Amino acid sequence: MRSRPRTCRAHAKINLTLEILGKRPDGYHEIVSIVQTLALHDVLSFGPADELVLTCDRQDLATHDNLVLRAARLLQAETGTTMGAQIHLTKRIPVAAGLGGGSSDAACALRGLNGLWQLGLSEEELCRLGGQVGSDVPFFFVDGTALVQGRGEKVSRLPSLASKWVVLITPRVELAEKTRELYARVSPAHFSTGEATRELVRALLQSGDVDSSPLVNAFLPIVLEMSPVVARCLDRLREACAEPFHLSGAGPTFYVLVPDRGRAEELFRSLATLAQRGLLEARVGLTQTV
Ligand code: C5P
Repeated sequence: MRSRPRTCRAHAKINLTLEILGKRPDGYHEIVSIVQTLALHDVLSFGPADELVLTCDRQDLATHDNLVLRAARLLQAETGTTMGAQIHLTKRIPVAAGLGGGSSDAACALRGLNGLWQLGLSEEELCRLGGQVGSDVPFFFVDGTALVQGRGEKVSRLPSLASKWVVLITPRVELAEKTRELYARVSPAHFSTGEATRELVRALLQSGDVDSSPLVNAFLPIVLEMSPVVARCLDRLREACAEPFHLSGAGPTFYVLVPDRGRAEELFRSLATLAQRGLLEARVGLTQTV
């Protein structure tokens, strides 16, 4: 009897804050960030095979350098296993958008293959390997609301943020090697002390909510300067409604946190209509924190 393929959800994330403290001797940047998981997710399935094969409903993503295959090859190399796998990725999270889709897929692949190949690695060992695949991967072994430090590999759980609806606006722009490019443009003028993040941690500990704490992101001025499309989108959004728009990760996705479902649906519909009419060069989505 053929076994059913294992499936795993790879959730997206947003950054509630993202501060850059400075540049490290190893070339990476020291960051502090509060990261939050979203209901929006990709789906991965894993079945036995002689070789490693990745298929995807978006053909252009089923490439050798996809983080899923990088994670799979690293797991093979670390454990010495010669087993293969048939991996299928159903992509729902916008790609290279600051929503952590590729990193979440990689974390999911490490977990899924650890099970399929019966390797018995602990979550801690998988998380450490995740950090070698990419700086954003370790967060996805914690999920929920978490404080992320170092270059991204130090993750500690925080009290969960009070449930929110999240409207996502992803400008239609392709920024090649986005994360590396944006970090390369960071200068000491973009550095901060981490105080805004510490303030938000205090708010979460006291009330479980972010209230009126400012949601700062060091990449905002950099991505606006780098991409006229992103800058135009933010102008349009600010003309269209009074809600504060926040940048996730290195962008280009903006998000709005809305406590009330009715208001979130209204905002989603009005922005989606603008996008359909060609007045907003963006993909608009609606999801929730989880
Ligand atoms: O870790 P990852 O491969 O995702 O990082 C891509 C690039 O982004 C790195 O090569 C580095 O240039 C930059 N980066 C950084 N500081 C971080 C994370 C990434 O400078 N904390």
